[in-house]
Amino acid sequence: MAETVKIALDPRVEAFLAKGPKKLFIGGEFVESLSGKTFETIDPSSGEMITTVYEADAADVDRAVEAAERAFHGDWAKVSPSERGRMLWKLADLMEEHAEALAQLETIDNGKPVTHARAADVPLAIDHFRYFAGWSTKLSGEVINNSAGRNMLTYTRHEPIGVVGQIIPWNFPLLLAAWKLGAALATGNVVILKSAEQTPLSAIYLAELIQQAGFPEGVVNIITGYGPTAGAAITNHPRIRKVAFTGSTEVGKLIMQQAAGNLKKVSLELGGKSPNIIFPDADFSKAIPGALMGIFFNQGQVCCAGSRLFVHKKVYDNVLADMTSFAAKMKQGPGLDESSEIGPLVSSEQFERVSGYLQKGNEEGATALTGGSPLDRAGYFVPPTIFADVNDRMTIAREEIFGPVVAAMPFDDEAQIADVIRRANDTEYGLAAGVWTTDLRKAHRVAHALEAGTVWVNCYNALDAAVPFGGYKQSGYGREMGSYALDLYTQVKAVWINLD
Ligand code: NAI
Ligand code: MG
Repeated sequence: MAETVKIALDPRVEAFLAKGPKKLFIGGEFVESLSGKTFETIDPSSGEMITTVYEADAADVDRAVEAAERAFHGDWAKVSPSERGRMLWKLADLMEEHAEALAQLETIDNGKPVTHARAADVPLAIDHFRYFAGWSTKLSGEVINNSAGRNMLTYTRHEPIGVVGQIIPWNFPLLLAAWKLGAALATGNVVILKSAEQTPLSAIYLAELIQQAGFPEGVVNIITGYGPTAGAAITNHPRIRKVAFTGSTEVGKLIMQQAAGNLKKVSLELGGKSPNIIFPDADFSKAIPGALMGIFFNQGQVCCAGSRLFVHKKVYDNVLADMTSFAAKMKQGPGLDESSEIGPLVSSEQFERVSGYLQKGNEEGATALTGGSPLDRAGYFVPPTIFADVNDRMTIAREEIFGPVVAAMPFDDEAQIADVIRRANDTEYGLAAGVWTTDLRKAHRVAHALEAGTVWVNCYNALDAAVPFGGYKQSGYGREMGSYALDLYTQVKAVWINLD
């Protein structure tokens, strides 16, 4: 094993971790859970405890709903759109001041390389708040010409929904908190956000910055706890009017059932088994690193990971040989080592799950060109794995693995695209897809034919606050980011005025 040299912790991180157990943020204050219960959060690079966190359950959710309702009808209602925008912008500025602390906390809790947290998670989260700060002042309805009477004036208002529940996973804890909070706050809602039990820390740190940014008490409430207790209390709550969820398709289905009680509006961003298609006319200097990053970024724990790699038969052997030699050389180690290119998986549960898929792949007859079995060392390390000799029916080609494991499959078709598109679309998921070709016509034709909410051509995992993101089929519904996200958090009121 290569030597690891960890960076020194930012003093703010040290100070933050020193004062455990971490509290819930409800009604503008940091409070203990009513039950007094706590749980541990674990450093996935060692398997050791980082600190403890208060565990919220239904009683704490009730308390957060009361605080949120008070804010919605009280102080938040008095805040102008312009002031709202400035608070979001102020929050982004504070995050920038605390960027290194946020990046380190994310790495300690999730395991990801700190170089990635610095380059992606933190700046994207900051940018997301700035983007939505701008929307605060740009919401408007329209005046509609109608045929109901000469003197009937009709117009629409785009109003906030009210108390919104948001439940996020552990793969991009800070960034997904930003995706959830940005649009909801810009549109004037009040929020109860639950972080994932595996990665509670960056959201609590964010809560401290939210407190400093000047949002009225109760506008943002951040709680930590488990899915079946705190999470279900949010989705079941009769006075929460909307729930936004990112996580597994399995839990997404539960969320819909639970939300049916009071017919909450639901938006879901779920899993994927995204196809990444390399045509023989691709620019391989881009396609090969792109396909590697598409599956190995964030240890493969990415909802839009390019986990089914279709490579044209003519170039299949060469592409796989190149990918294998890169993947075998990737430096894997603790995220706090700046030379680590890939870190551990988030939890022992995820480690077991992904290890199970490696075993399944081997048993079902796939060949691991590199990787293929978990590392025998402390922490939850699974090496970058490229499976060849995969067919479309194998478990590793059908199910979301959520680890650094790609299933590579050749394609060969006379029509060039018809067959591979059919195979790419032969999944219940539809979050994203990638296409590598230098033929402009083919690029567009394939992009249009793929059943996915995002199609990347000659790039992968590109994201921007202005560009919508979300799923087809069982990858969810609703679109986060961009102007589309405003629809998730507003309801339209038509106002009729009889001027006669
Ligand atoms: P999960 O879907 O169980 O957890 C995501 C969030 O939902 C967490 O905050 C959790 O506390 C909450 N939750 C769980 N059960 C709930 C319930 N009954 N009611 C309300 N909230 C609930 O994901 P998990 O178990 O951590 O990972 C399992 C698999 O899910 C992964 O292996 C991966 O395949 C997939 N996944 C997909 C993600 C994505 O971004 N699309 C993110 C995380 C996991
Ligand atoms: Mg779960």
